[in-house]
Amino acid sequence: MESILNNRPALATEVNKVAEVAGYLWQKGWAERNGGNITVNVTEYVDDAIKGMPAISEVKPIGTTLPYLKGCYFYCKGTNKRMRDLARWPMENGSVIRILDDCASYVIIADQPVLPTSELPSHLSVHNRLIEQGSPYKASVHTHPIELIAMTHNKKFLEKDVASNLLWSMIPETKAFCPRGLGIIPYKLPSSVELAEATIHELAEYDVVMWEKHGVFAVDTDAMTAFDQVDVLNKSALIYIAARNMGFEPDGMSQVQMNEMSVAFNLPK
Ligand code: 13P
Ligand code: ZN
Repeated sequence: MESILNNRPALATEVNKVAEVAGYLWQKGWAERNGGNITVNVTEYVDDAIKGMPAISEVKPIGTTLPYLKGCYFYCKGTNKRMRDLARWPMENGSVIRILDDCASYVIIADQPVLPTSELPSHLSVHNRLIEQGSPYKASVHTHPIELIAMTHNKKFLEKDVASNLLWSMIPETKAFCPRGLGIIPYKLPSSVELAEATIHELAEYDVVMWEKHGVFAVDTDAMTAFDQVDVLNKSALIYIAARNMGFEPDGMSQVQMNEMSVAFNLPK
């Protein structure tokens, strides 16, 4: 079948990483039904043939104006599509979109007119900010990790850096591989522009942010590394819960041990 991925190995590699991550999200139980979404800025892989591809959808509004996205291209999970299906058929459960010159609308260009995720305002607002900052990050992953979401049903974990410090203290690797910790965003309506604005605000300080009682939103260089940051945080949540299930509050690493880690791994805080 004709696909935008044919004879474009670099673009195919990025989309295949999304598919691999989608499979992990399903296996972890973080992707019930259509839960979660992934977008990747693929502009660097766009050649003249792609630039000449006609729209296969009508012009659609983003819902907000994002000046740094002019002429950019994104692979996006389709709305209402399942991660477990995307894992096998990424171009039937997602599509490539082109941002138009008004920076406020887009068209779908390949392979099929699969409508992008309902969380597009958050994803694209984040990509806009990443480009503005000259960030190397190209991928954003939203998913519903069970134990991390459960923690947000307790007010004490919604206070700034309380959950982050607890999760870091469960196992040394968490701070090493999620060095900026977990930001918290109070509950907002899914897919809203308010949620998008709160997300870009919080991502100034963190690579992974929690949407209270909903899920996490993570950014990194590609879909795999964004997933890894969420995975190490949720692993720490599982260790915390395992200790609680054994009937005790875990000690956690001491502040001295945590500081020693930060120096040894050259971590930001
Ligand atoms: P979509 O199917 O539109 O991507 O929505 C899933 C989701 O998790 C919304 O927050
Ligand atoms: Zn969601």
